[in-house]
Amino acid sequence: MADKIVILTGAGISAESGLGTFRDEGGLWSQHRIEDVATPEGFARDPALVHRFYNARRAQASEAQPNPAHHALARLQAEWPGDVVIVTQNVDGLHEAAGARAIHMHGILAGALCGCCDHRWPAPPEMAPGMPCPACGQPTARPDVVWFGEMPYHMDDIEEHLQTCDLFASIGTSGQVYPAAGFVQEARLYGAATIELNLAGTDIGAAFEDRRTGPASRIVPAWVEELLSQR
Ligand code: APR
Repeated sequence: MADKIVILTGAGISAESGLGTFRDEGGLWSQHRIEDVATPEGFARDPALVHRFYNARRAQASEAQPNPAHHALARLQAEWPGDVVIVTQNVDGLHEAAGARAIHMHGILAGALCGCCDHRWPAPPEMAPGMPCPACGQPTARPDVVWFGEMPYHMDDIEEHLQTCDLFASIGTSGQVYPAAGFVQEARLYGAATIELNLAGTDIGAAFEDRRTGPASRIVPAWVEELLSQR
């Protein structure tokens, strides 16, 4: 029986809550250029464009509701006798909306960050270029999301969880963005069992011992039920 479970989630877990993924057909990265809206250089070039992109995503996420997959993970976290650590690449806040706790390695749309002093505060619905930081007063407010070329958050904690878990699960992520795409290798190296749950096969699927395919709203609750019945 697995004592400590680490679960990595990606955009696919929120797809059935109405939030688009990045790399599926019609996904966000087919509509926007990564270098324009998700890099520090893009923000320096055209902050208004970047704020518009995140304002729209923030508005969409604030309307979205968690789906049965988010609820199932919250249930697992509440009922599993060992630790259940959810590490999410998602910035939508839907794990918390379902009552779970998650480590946000790519930040959160509901947060603002000062590019000057690193102060964090709740983001207003609309951010705009030149917004001052409430702590240092500099006009350097930005969305608290991790862009390409920046270091994801909480990596030390995440590494420790990967090295001490008994089971590592990856849900709804394409495995195309590192370091998250390498988590399965690290967990395996330290002896964890591994499982991937995704709508379809992924480029890193072969690295997992076990795989389930189908929509997250169906396969995640079934997997959680299975785990809880083995307690
Ligand atoms: N159920 C389960 N999986 C799904 C569903 C669904 N209903 N719909 C789509 N998927 C899967 C797709 O098959 C794909 O493998 O979700 C995955 C989404 O992949 P991406 O769009 O690449 O999203 P993600 O892996 O989260 O991206 C990682 O890339 O641009 C960055 O910072 C962004 O955090 C993001 C990171």
